[in-house]
Amino acid sequence: RFQVRLQRSGKVLTIDAEESILGACLSAGIDAAYSCEEGVCGACAVRVLSGQVIHRDSVLTPAEREAADTMMICCSRGRGDALVIDL
Ligand code: FES
Repeated sequence: RFQVRLQRSGKVLTIDAEESILGACLSAGIDAAYSCEEGVCGACAVRVLSGQVIHRDSVLTPAEREAADTMMICCSRGRGDALVIDL
């Protein structure tokens, strides 16, 4: 369970273990792009503004993971409560 702040809408969402950031955004009425929901297509990529990400997709290269400025919100998660994304 962690929190994510959506910079553009100013919302803070709490993501439970069985939920994705994408799912929580859609439930909160936030328009987020997605397609596969399995971490393989890259459609849900969102810019990470701050905080740490646990990457669970198979889209990003190791170098992109290291850079930590993009994440797939359908499957990747935040570490701690300081994640801020450009959504
Ligand atoms: Fe395909 Fe997230 S929706 S990678």
